[in-house]
Amino acid sequence: MKIRSILPGDLEQVRALLGANGWAHRVGDPDRFADLVSKSQRTAVAVVDERVVGFARALCDNQSNGYLSMLVVSPGHRRQGIGRALVDHIVGNDCRITWMLRADRAGAREFFAKLGFAASSVAMERTRKPPRITRSDSPGASPRKR
Ligand SMILES: CC(C)(COP(=O)(O)OP(=O)(O)OC[C@H]1O[C@@H](n2cnc3c(N)ncnc32)[C@H](O)[C@@H]1OP(=O)(O)O)[C@@H](O)C(=O)NCCC(=O)NCCS
Repeated sequence: MKIRSILPGDLEQVRALLGANGWAHRVGDPDRFADLVSKSQRTAVAVVDERVVGFARALCDNQSNGYLSMLVVSPGHRRQGIGRALVDHIVGNDCRITWMLRADRAGAREFFAKLGFAASSVAMERTRKPPRITRSDSPGASPRKR
């Protein structure tokens, strides 16, 4: 098993892995997904026999704050240390950085607790909403007169 940063040739495998494991609503559009990954300062893929079996990405300012997102290991490769190795690759060893994440999937809290994460008493969040469809966006709307 090898852990490395993502390469352009991995994108479709990673998108399929995420799509099959609960992120289908986030990765449906290949161009938007490529853009999302390109804007993630840190990425990691786990590769076994030249197949991508794990992925993680993070936003990070490399000084004080990081946000770990989209961590996934394919079901057939779980409980072998791959999730931990992906997080280690992303987080590195700079202890001046505070890392945040959402642990809302089954087993995620237990997993992250093993890696030294603890529930926050200070974090807040404003969650994303689906985009509002305005009349001019809706199918069949006639172009607005100016
Ligand atoms: C969470 C996930 C990434 C873990 O990957 P993994 O490769 O199985 O994890 P590891 O093998 O590296 O496990 C590291 C430690 O966490 C523990 N662990 C892993 N999954 C666990 C679970 N569901 N419940 C309790 N403990 C768990 C392991 O036993 C191991 O403990 P140890 O170090 O004492 O042996 C994987 O289950 C997954 O992809 N889940 C679906 C997506 C998800 O929930 N992502 C995280 C939130 S975005």
